Amino acid sequence: MKITVVGAGAVGASCAEYIAIKNFASEVVLLDIKEGYAEGKAMDLMQTASLNGFDTKITGSTSDYSKTADSNIVVITSGIPRKPGMTREELIGINAGIVKSVSASLIKHSPNAIMIVVSNPMDTMTYLVHKTTDLPKNRIIGMGGALDSARFKYRLAEALGAPISDVDGMVIGGHSDTGMVPLISHATRNSVKVSEFLSEDQMDYVVQETKVGGATLTKLLGTSAWYAPGAAVSGLVQAIACDQKKMFPCSTFLEGEYGLNDICIGVPVILGRNGIEKIVAIELGDAEKNKMQESAEGVRKTNELLDV
Ligand SMILES: NC(=O)c1ccc[n+]([C@@H]2O[C@H](COP(=O)([O-])OP(=O)(O)OC[C@H]3O[C@@H](n4cnc5c(N)ncnc54)[C@H](O)[C@@H]3O)[C@@H](O)[C@H]2O)c1
Repeated sequence: MKITVVGAGAVGASCAEYIAIKNFASEVVLLDIKEGYAEGKAMDLMQTASLNGFDTKITGSTSDYSKTADSNIVVITSGIPRKPGMTREELIGINAGIVKSVSASLIKHSPNAIMIVVSNPMDTMTYLVHKTTDLPKNRIIGMGGALDSARFKYRLAEALGAPISDVDGMVIGGHSDTGMVPLISHATRNSVKVSEFLSEDQMDYVVQETKVGGATLTKLLGTSAWYAPGAAVSGLVQAIACDQKKMFPCSTFLEGEYGLNDICIGVPVILGRNGIEKIVAIELGDAEKNKMQESAEGVRKTNELLDV
């Protein structure tokens, strides 16, 4: 199992670290455009191998895609992150060009790979890969919902005063401050709906804090977060590499599912060795359906800025 991560910055390196620590991959290649940067991150990470007890070999490359040849899974984290006060959508001008050229170079050397898109605005970058490559849709996966759901569970556990292992919940929709749809009516504590424990105000607070979860961290850190994003990507990579058939909300190309067409947006999917093996249809209430439609309108507006 060979995995390439393009972009050895905060998210890319964190993702490589979590993949290595979980010890399921034989090789991780980090690639970056900055001279020596990926090689340095790879060497530093390899020097944690004996301390953290993993055998995954991590190597680095400066823009040499031949080193990524025959990867099973490729992850795109290259591009600029947002600064405090910015939206993810504002990154499109620079990141679209990067994602387009990086995806083409990756496919040239690993034509059978499954591609995970992380760079923002992620739903639009996933759509861009769909429109500009010949990859089948099951092999193009946008990561956003897995992270947003982890942030939702963090806020739910906080409001409930419960350990996170007691809590389950999922966020679908666009990966943006306004577009996320945290499915509060489906969220549970040990299979009991959270509405049994939380007031309307508490649930509204959880939903709102989840939606601005990334912006809250960007304000605190001065740049966008990396531990939870890296861990979320590693979860998707592991589900594919180990054929786990796990369900995650991922951005995928829709053809009628959830009443949507010609868009990549977050919906629950089953991940296994073929990438997205199934899009899971779940029953949404009227309010959630409306929010999903509004979210899709927001993603479409950003998609219109693409030159495809
Ligand atoms: N989808 C999500 O849930 C999620 C979460 C967090 C961050 N992000 C996004 O991920 C991206 C990376 O964030 P980060 O914090 O790691 O940024 P970063 O600046 O720390 O790292 C980005 C890296 O990409 C490299 N890069 C730029 N152009 C490149 C190219 N053409 N080829 C190869 N490498 C190139 C840069 O040199 C840099 O090292 C941003 O767009 C950010 O918004 C997405």
